[in-house]
Amino acid sequence: MEKYKVGVVGCTGMVGQRFLTLLENHPWFQVTALAASARSAGQTYAQAVEGRWKMSTPVPEAVKEMVIYDIEKDLDAYVSQIDFTFCAVNMKKDAIKALEEKIAKKECPVISNNSAHRFTPDVPMVVPEINPQHIQIIESQRKRLGTKLGFIAVKSNCSLQSYVPALHPLREKYGLSKALVTTYQAISGAGKTFQTWPEMVDNVIPYIGGEEEKSEQEPMKLWGTIQDGKIVNTDTPNITSQCLRVPVSDGHMAAVFMSFAGEKPSIEEIKETWANYKGRAQELELPSAPKQFLHYFEDPNYPQTKLQRDLEGGMAISLGRLREDTQYDYKFVGLSHNTLRGAAGGGVLLAELLAAEGYLIHK
Ligand SMILES: NC(=O)c1ccc[n+]([C@@H]2O[C@H](COP(=O)([O-])OP(=O)(O)OC[C@H]3O[C@@H](n4cnc5c(N)ncnc54)[C@H](OP(=O)(O)O)[C@@H]3O)[C@@H](O)[C@H]2O)c1
Repeated sequence: MEKYKVGVVGCTGMVGQRFLTLLENHPWFQVTALAASARSAGQTYAQAVEGRWKMSTPVPEAVKEMVIYDIEKDLDAYVSQIDFTFCAVNMKKDAIKALEEKIAKKECPVISNNSAHRFTPDVPMVVPEINPQHIQIIESQRKRLGTKLGFIAVKSNCSLQSYVPALHPLREKYGLSKALVTTYQAISGAGKTFQTWPEMVDNVIPYIGGEEEKSEQEPMKLWGTIQDGKIVNTDTPNITSQCLRVPVSDGHMAAVFMSFAGEKPSIEEIKETWANYKGRAQELELPSAPKQFLHYFEDPNYPQTKLQRDLEGGMAISLGRLREDTQYDYKFVGLSHNTLRGAAGGGVLLAELLAAEGYLIHK
């Protein structure tokens, strides 16, 4: 199979680095161009990340000598090297919005890890196992942008990936009325390690800016429907959340309480629904898709962040401790890898879905 030529904007950052390690030896995608800010432009990738490489595996050989483009100044040269690009940059929201539209208008599809376009009504925000049908909105978006091939598709925030995957099949089958969630989030979600954020050792910080809003509102778009060229958010279940930063390198955990809209299913029915759930990513056997999306652990000591976050390449969701509650119908615990499933891995999986469904073209 001819591989798609792929670029990464924000290649020097935490998520950018993760993209490059995931794309090393990818069966469908090959990295052919890299871009970042003027600070890194003109340097080889190896030079640019010297002293700030945060991955546990070495810098991929194939990109070490690639010279980084300045995405502002060298946009035409950058897009001429690639079929589509990933984007994960640290910039102001309006600047990211403008940048991503500028790239898309060059007929270069953008698969973004940034939050800037998550609520643009004709930009699909997709978890391939949950709302793959939302990619159909791309036709409307292309009309607005005036493009034939170019578009923007985004992945959702990392915090919700520990509980929305578990709620989704239950919502579909039984209907959910409300959920209360507390997330315990890793420091890599802030682009940090214990070396760069020593204050986090032996500490918990009870605030992550913007995270609770994302945790409550983004699921409403994931479960929304396409109407007249827009994705219209749902309003059920009602979700309330608290998001805490905990001293963990990778892996977001969520403690979840949920109530059903009608008669509640039994514990066995819930476990069976989770065990049997397959999304479009599994049906299409996408290269990065976990074989089993939702893993339930019977031992109440599991899932544990350190032991289960890397399950199925960090792309599976681990669940446990499902039991009845006195105020809600049930409660349980969920875990996902925030920089794999929750960030770059989710972006790569979305790109695989878009390729398999015919939205990405070899130029
Ligand atoms: N960390 C996570 O787990 C996570 C999860 C989900 C989503 N995200 C999102 O992903 C994005 C990147 O996060 P990160 O943690 O990887 O950030 P980061 O480590 O701070 O990296 C930021 C990247 O953006 C580039 N950049 C900054 N200003 C730029 C400009 N004006 N033009 C072009 N490139 C520019 C930087 O390039 P230079 O090296 O040249 O400055 C660098 O490559 C953010 O929007 C973040 O919210 C992060």
